[in-house]
Amino acid sequence: MQADTSTIAESLANARQSLELNSIPDAALEARILVRAALDLSHAELLTRSASHVDSGAQLRLNEFIARRVRREPVQYITGRIEFYGRDFVVDSRVLITRPETELLVEQALLRILECRIEKPRILDVGTGSGVLAVTMAAELPAADVVATDISTEALDVAQENARALGVSDRIQFHHGSITEGVTGLYDVVLSNPPYVLTRFLADAEVQPELVYEPQVALDGGGDGMDVYRQLLPELGAVMADGGAAYIEIDPPVAEPCLDSAKRLMPTAAVSVLTDLSGLERCMAIELPC
Ligand SMILES: C[S@@+](CC[C@H](N)C(=O)[O-])C[C@H]1O[C@@H](n2cnc3c(N)ncnc32)[C@H](O)[C@@H]1O
Repeated sequence: MQADTSTIAESLANARQSLELNSIPDAALEARILVRAALDLSHAELLTRSASHVDSGAQLRLNEFIARRVRREPVQYITGRIEFYGRDFVVDSRVLITRPETELLVEQALLRILECRIEKPRILDVGTGSGVLAVTMAAELPAADVVATDISTEALDVAQENARALGVSDRIQFHHGSITEGVTGLYDVVLSNPPYVLTRFLADAEVQPELVYEPQVALDGGGDGMDVYRQLLPELGAVMADGGAAYIEIDPPVAEPCLDSAKRLMPTAAVSVLTDLSGLERCMAIELPC
């Protein structure tokens, strides 16, 4: 019986070949990720059990995973998870797949809280999606109280699941609404990664076919990418505490208009732009003196 089934090494080689033949970028890496997920193997097990045979159920699951990836479904939706700031988060087609650059917002927020010696930080995350920012802040800062909003009830369900799984749901309040609608109180740190992809870019599926799988409400920033910033920036002043700060994710096409708006709307704040590891304008910092 066993002679008819592939070994793990053979399944891995076949998976890689199928992905390569279908021009999937990073085929070797993605084949390893999909084999590990389908066969439920740790990184070490993938290396040390390469001669073991794959049972038929696992092989069927792997075949299905490869077929989905060939149709350009993002690998993170297939495995159902992402890693963010060292923690595992559940993701599916109800939420954006957070890009690694978004960790910059967390780094800046943690630095600010340390520098301003805020002992019990109040944190607001606007457009929480899978909850990566809200949950990470709550997990990093055991004294923090966090409020997270989203216009999508489906996204809020995923965020709540992640908050429960990471043991912080007692310190995060979730609100359904647009931007800060229904939010009360003042916050030491406001975080947001709004949708900012230009609509015409989304329409061009050839550019990045994976984008069609993500919720459009999480990506589409309108004709100039500014739709949600135009709502968010004027609302910031009403939710930021004295000495508060906001760290808002941006993309190069929206950097200049965002900066101009923030300076005009919050003349007493220091407004600056931070770049990510690729040197791209990625985060707008709006900081009141603390
Ligand atoms: C780019 S995603 C970011 C999600 C998450 N913060 C992250 O970094 O992965 C933007 C999120 O904003 C939400 N959103 C879009 N428009 C909104 C609005 N007007 N008010 C509140 N949330 C909104 C979307 O549903 C989506 O979850």
